[in-house]
Amino acid sequence: ATAAPAQAALLAWYDRHARALPWRIGPADRARGVMPDPYRVWLSEVMLQQTTVAAAGRYFHAFTRAWPRVEALAAAPREAVLEAWAGLGYYARARNLHACAGVVAAEHGGRFPETEDGLRALPGIGAYTAAAIAAIAFDRPAAVVDGNIERVMARLFAETEPLPGVKPRLRAHAAALTPAQRPGDHAQALMDLGATICTPRRPACALCPLRPGCAAHAAGIAGELPARAPK
Ligand code: ADE
Repeated sequence: ATAAPAQAALLAWYDRHARALPWRIGPADRARGVMPDPYRVWLSEVMLQQTTVAAAGRYFHAFTRAWPRVEALAAAPREAVLEAWAGLGYYARARNLHACAGVVAAEHGGRFPETEDGLRALPGIGAYTAAAIAAIAFDRPAAVVDGNIERVMARLFAETEPLPGVKPRLRAHAAALTPAQRPGDHAQALMDLGATICTPRRPACALCPLRPGCAAHAAGIAGELPARAPK
């Protein structure tokens, strides 16, 4: 089966139901092709590895108010950055955040690299964050795979093999489903779908734009996937 109908249905759903999150640009700007600021995308993705969307919002506002651009964050005293990070936990991330801002400001003229490889070379940026920034900020067709997206893929393709062994297959599905057009919106649509509809328990399949092609829904096992290895 071709991925095109699912991709189109997902983007149409995102256009109507995207969550308005502080680091996103509004629908009107998005429709005009305006891209989000890579600095804000990076900051939000690092925070979201540490906390929930709700808590990240407060920290995101505080950081962007204090340091609106990467050069400002780079120039801040490290103690000030660690203090603003307090409550998010895991200070290594805050130190990496500051170090990364320093490298982008000093070695890249304040502009984030646009490729996954270029991004991965920066302090604190791993495979997930590099893919997320490449897709969301630069519309590169990177396969963004977090826990939400793994769950959506397990269900869409009815992968019944348990986690974590099934992860490479879920990643391959996510890569194959990534469209050339609007890959950043595609990735964020999958994140929103996983957070609001394709939830871990009792998924709201009646509201899901991917239901027509969902193998787990057809088999009546959506709520049971992804499977976990017995302990
Ligand atoms: N979780 C991680 N990154 C996210 C994003 N960009 N939007 C929503 N949830 C996320």
